[in-house]
Amino acid sequence: MAIAFPDLPYAHDALSPAISDTTLQTHHGKHHKAYVDKTNAAVEGTPLAEATLEEIIAEADAKKNAGLFNNSAQSWNHAFYWHSMSPAGSAPSGDLAAAIDAAFGSADALIEKLQTAGAGHFASGWVWLAADKDGKLSIEETHDAGTLAIGDKNPLLTLDVWEHAYYLDHKNVRPDYLKAVSTGHINWDFAAENYARGTTWAYPSA
Ligand code: FE2
Repeated sequence: MAIAFPDLPYAHDALSPAISDTTLQTHHGKHHKAYVDKTNAAVEGTPLAEATLEEIIAEADAKKNAGLFNNSAQSWNHAFYWHSMSPAGSAPSGDLAAAIDAAFGSADALIEKLQTAGAGHFASGWVWLAADKDGKLSIEETHDAGTLAIGDKNPLLTLDVWEHAYYLDHKNVRPDYLKAVSTGHINWDFAAENYARGTTWAYPSA
């Protein structure tokens, strides 16, 4: 059972101009695919060959296998990131909206905090909206391939702040990328589904 390389959940030009067709062709078709291919190559013929991606990430983390951790975690993070965005912007609703108001005051205040965290994140990594086991929300940051796929937090959405996510469209101006994506393309329905489930999203098996 090889780890799947999932399709983008929308057309490559669907997030333009926030994220261009060219960026998504490369980011999904080259970067994400390479992480998946390297993960599959690393586990082939080992006891992890039949494991889920989440199990591979946990095992690599436990064994301090940096190469496998980086590729497996980046496989997961990117699939989660694609779903964290949508062509049409929406607004938080239901229980998630109430939790956002309780934690941040408003959705606009949350978005501003996400932008600030992403802009201030040193070098490569990810910014996340996450919930703890009691449903309390927080903004989290992980460095490099760091992931919330494993651990106590339930990730609701993430934004990639590696340069390859925005450099072609926004050059070095990471705040412009974060503003364009977070004000127009957050998939709040995905975040609400993750919040309502209360357990970490599962990477697609096919
Ligand atoms: Fe990326």
